[in-house]
Amino acid sequence: MADPYAPVAADAPSSQVPALRWDEPPEGPVLVLLDQTRLPAEEVELVCTDVPALVGAIRTLAVRGAPLLGIAGAYGVALAAVRGFDVEDAAQTLAHARPTAVNLAYGVRRALAAYRSAMAGGGDLGAAAGAALAEARLLHRQDAESSARMASAGLALLDELLPGGNHRILTHCNTGALVSGGEGTAFAVALAAHRAGRLQRLWVDETRPLLQGARLTAYEAARNGMAYTLLTDSAAGSLFAAGEVDAVLIGADRIAADGSVANKVGSYPLAVLARYHHVPFVVVAPTTTIDPDTQDGASIEVEQRAAQEVTEFAVPPAAGAEAGAGVPVAPLGTQAYNPAFDVTPPELVTALVTEDGALSPVTGSGIADLCARSRQA
Ligand code: MRU
Repeated sequence: MADPYAPVAADAPSSQVPALRWDEPPEGPVLVLLDQTRLPAEEVELVCTDVPALVGAIRTLAVRGAPLLGIAGAYGVALAAVRGFDVEDAAQTLAHARPTAVNLAYGVRRALAAYRSAMAGGGDLGAAAGAALAEARLLHRQDAESSARMASAGLALLDELLPGGNHRILTHCNTGALVSGGEGTAFAVALAAHRAGRLQRLWVDETRPLLQGARLTAYEAARNGMAYTLLTDSAAGSLFAAGEVDAVLIGADRIAADGSVANKVGSYPLAVLARYHHVPFVVVAPTTTIDPDTQDGASIEVEQRAAQEVTEFAVPPAAGAEAGAGVPVAPLGTQAYNPAFDVTPPELVTALVTEDGALSPVTGSGIADLCARSRQA
């Protein structure tokens, strides 16, 4: 097998394997995931035949990122339905597998509504399962379309904010094809800038503790032939101070009604740095990530994860090896503060780019208008 850490050809696809796909082998329908815990060492598929397997994959981050979680949740409901499990129960479990990304509950809700309405319309179980699957496929397609529209709206905004091209963009966590039915959110904008010849450099935060930046964004950037440089999260301050960052582009896991943005922990410090250094801080997310039922940032439930993710350094497993415990970097029994996300207040966000265009400034009334428009579309 090729060395996964060797330089990558510029025209290599972002991955040989899609982040997620529905399959129907003779043994019965399955949801197949690209196991993101194994990247970049190897592209291994994880086959889910039931909802507990999918919930496990969601909790371990084998499948992750807000839009993809929504798609996985919708297919999970379809999987329960076609395999004859208790659909209502499966939907409940799936919707609560992780608490912060609102897309997960949204995707589950859509597939469940399709299932329920087929049942209420007198359909049999097979027809209702078919309706849930059709809804999951529709969400998958819509997310790919949203992704393409965000990329062009985001590129237009960058050109407006930073005339002259040669953008040096800092990003955090992973927001590319690994989190979406298409090419992603923030990463898709950087990729559009690269393809247009206007990306000078993508600065990639490693994104401690689970290294989504180092393992996944660097992987996607390399495969797309982008000029990128990896940095430790704590090096971002000196990079700003050196005048090396023109814009920050990040995704979101939930956007509250007042415009507060929950995203991977470490996003809020970047917003503060960006404001201090007069650098645009741009959030790129589909409207499915807006949650009008969550009033403000303080009301967003932030997932707290195991101390072990901080007290041990999780080296990605080598090809073929079991994913084991990481290397301890703190004395045994050390407590750790390990929120998976943080919340950036709307006043620190220069613009929110969605598939329906950009919103700037980000305010509660702007968010309400955006939601009303996207409901009509
Ligand atoms: O914990 P993860 O890896 O699921 O977190 C993902 C992020 O925080 C992404 O930045 C976010 O989902 C936006 S991706 C479109």
